[in-house]
Amino acid sequence: MAMDSSPAHTKVSLTGIKPTGYVHLGNYVGAIRPALALAEKYESWYFMADYHSLTSMRDAQALRHYTRSVAATWLACGLDPERTVFYRQSDVPEIFELQWVMSCVTGKGLMNRAHAYKAARDRNRENGVEDLDAGVNMGLYNYPVLMAVDILAMETDVVPVGRDQLQHVEYTADIAGSFNHLFGEGYTFKIPLPMVPDESTAHTLPGLDGRKMSKSYNNTIPMFGTEKELEKLIKRIKTDSVPVEEPKDPDSAHVFQIYQHFASPAEVAEVRARLEKGGMGWGEAKKVLFDAVNAELSPLRARYNELMTPGNTELDEVLATGAVKARKRAGAVLSAVRRAVGVA
Ligand code: TRP
Repeated sequence: MAMDSSPAHTKVSLTGIKPTGYVHLGNYVGAIRPALALAEKYESWYFMADYHSLTSMRDAQALRHYTRSVAATWLACGLDPERTVFYRQSDVPEIFELQWVMSCVTGKGLMNRAHAYKAARDRNRENGVEDLDAGVNMGLYNYPVLMAVDILAMETDVVPVGRDQLQHVEYTADIAGSFNHLFGEGYTFKIPLPMVPDESTAHTLPGLDGRKMSKSYNNTIPMFGTEKELEKLIKRIKTDSVPVEEPKDPDSAHVFQIYQHFASPAEVAEVRARLEKGGMGWGEAKKVLFDAVNAELSPLRARYNELMTPGNTELDEVLATGAVKARKRAGAVLSAVRRAVGVA
């Protein structure tokens, strides 16, 4: 797998993964696969944004568990730690010192306009809560500054993210620009660009109820439940009540939409033809879907279970190696920033 350009000229792609639950099929198709493909072309830095999870998680054991689970999932899916720097945000203290510096060049008004913060206030308004900031902690409020630093500390060129994160990457450019304007003679941050899949190529999976598969809708199919659990969930995917013998519209069927991401073009064409002709029922279509998904996930599940086995230290070793590299990069940036602002 020769890289076609030397690392010195390869652009840096960085993304953060917030561990708040188990990875599901929607994450796999929409985020993991594209990120692993990108790692073939870019110098890639992928990390567990565990301190970002702390804005909403209050269960230490759960945070610890999901952080391991998400990391093990990416490795099981083929993330190559020789190629991608893979680390935990909380292992890089330099990020948090930089966060203070960057918060001092960030306008409060910018944070007031952040989508997640505004959404929290809107919810309070709708519920008739008088203090619109009720339930909003400073972590949620400062979230975009921490995310900006995640990106800027590693001298990132591009940030592959979903549409919901676009504003955060735009804020990162604003915040970096503000620093550069004030302290640019001492240090200049590279301005990162977002990389958002366009609507036509975005790989979005429907969930069990047909809405976008998402943890917040509680309609997900986790990647690494048992085979039985996978089969049971696939059986629960919503279908219409067109009888077995009648022709069906594959494109509006959630079962078929998911199948397209797990089968070869020839297999997809065959199932499409059978559904359109009539004679293939949803029960059979679900069986075919289960077989395809399970065939792809089985080897990954085995690897995941191995990495999650108590006593196996592989995961810790990978993350420890990643942390050393991440601290080195962020440390160099931090030293330059400290000099630029006058504390060193
Ligand atoms: N906020 C991102 C999310 O919820 C996670 C994240 C944290 C991130 N830091 C990042 C993404 C830096 C890209 C770059 O999905």
